[in-house]
Amino acid sequence: MKKIVIFASGSGSNAENIFNKTKDKIEITGIFTNNPNAGVIDRANRLKIPVFIFQKNELTDINSILYSTLSTIGYDLIVLAGFLLKIPDELIQFSNNRIINIHPSLLPKYGGKGMYGDNVHNAVIHNKESESGITIHWVNNEYDKGAIINQYKIIVTPEDSVETLSIRIHKLEYEYFPKTIIHLLT
Ligand code: GAR
Repeated sequence: MKKIVIFASGSGSNAENIFNKTKDKIEITGIFTNNPNAGVIDRANRLKIPVFIFQKNELTDINSILYSTLSTIGYDLIVLAGFLLKIPDELIQFSNNRIINIHPSLLPKYGGKGMYGDNVHNAVIHNKESESGITIHWVNNEYDKGAIINQYKIIVTPEDSVETLSIRIHKLEYEYFPKTIIHLLT
């Protein structure tokens, strides 16, 4: 079975959805978070997936417990699912460029530092965009700039709010993120 690890900083609904939709084909060997209060921790415990909390500075220290844990548990792909810290060169090289991210907009629009979750939807609504969507892309050392794997669109109407947009974007993510992971690994 192919293995993935997931990095998440928040609620972790994508992480749980990936587990549910890929469990017959892919093993999640660990969920990593930098946020000791992240909702994803409860989810991982409930799903019996090992969870690892690390400090931000471990990301740039290849002698840290974060890196030794990654080596020990093994993975074919690192999946960022709502992970908010910048991925440094150290991790990109360590993983041989095998890191993907999901972003809740049509990159290159609304990417970069500070652009995550509801901040993105807020900006889309503020700018009266007529469409938005999701981007699944490879991770390089610039925020949200790695090669795009695929994008999916939705129509944004004048009636949309951050909440309605967030719900529809999450639906797209739940449908296409697991499919993309399976496609990349099998
Ligand atoms: C998702 O919408 C994901 O696209 C976004 O965070 C949300 C996490 O939701 N990621 C980013 O904004 C990355 N820049 P979840 O915790 O419920 O899976």
